Amino acid sequence: MMNKELAMNSIDTVTIDYQTYLSAAEIAAIEHEVSIMETRDAAGIEALKVVQAHRGWISDDSLFAISDLLAMPIAQLEGVATFYNLIYRQPVGQYVIHVCDSIACHLMGYEAVLIAIKQHLAIDYGQTTADGKFTLLSNACLGCCDKAPAMMVGTEHYQNLTPASAVAVLAQLAAKGEADDCS
Ligand code: FES
Repeated sequence: MMNKELAMNSIDTVTIDYQTYLSAAEIAAIEHEVSIMETRDAAGIEALKVVQAHRGWISDDSLFAISDLLAMPIAQLEGVATFYNLIYRQPVGQYVIHVCDSIACHLMGYEAVLIAIKQHLAIDYGQTTADGKFTLLSNACLGCCDKAPAMMVGTEHYQNLTPASAVAVLAQLAAKGEADDCS
């Protein structure tokens, strides 16, 4: 079995030419982020966000291409991607639901909200609905403890949730997604 150090050394030998992999829009957006940082590798997290915004998640190939563009070791970039829980290293649904499972939300009804969401979508944590619309993930405190329980879907926060209001949010988004599909 390959030890961790050997694996890290091996991963840094993989290269993908960013110019053939990333779009012009992605490269321009990343270079803009680089221009306002002190070093190229300081733009790592923003570069990951740019590519994720275009592609939905960060594949290994995306990671290699960003590493090439930023002249940044892949293992270092992977460390950034792993640390930041809003960077997805696996394919996700159209809407990613982050349900806060920290203490204030636990005290204010998290459990019932989570059960309602799981039953409504028929998925568990870490899973995506069969239609590809929703992925369900847990999240540490979302920073709105005075309005617990809370969840984030995409970039939108939803607070003071009840089981019914959480399901209503998801039903609305599903309906919106279907309308978007038809347009
Ligand atoms: S504990 Fe849930 S938002 Fe802070």
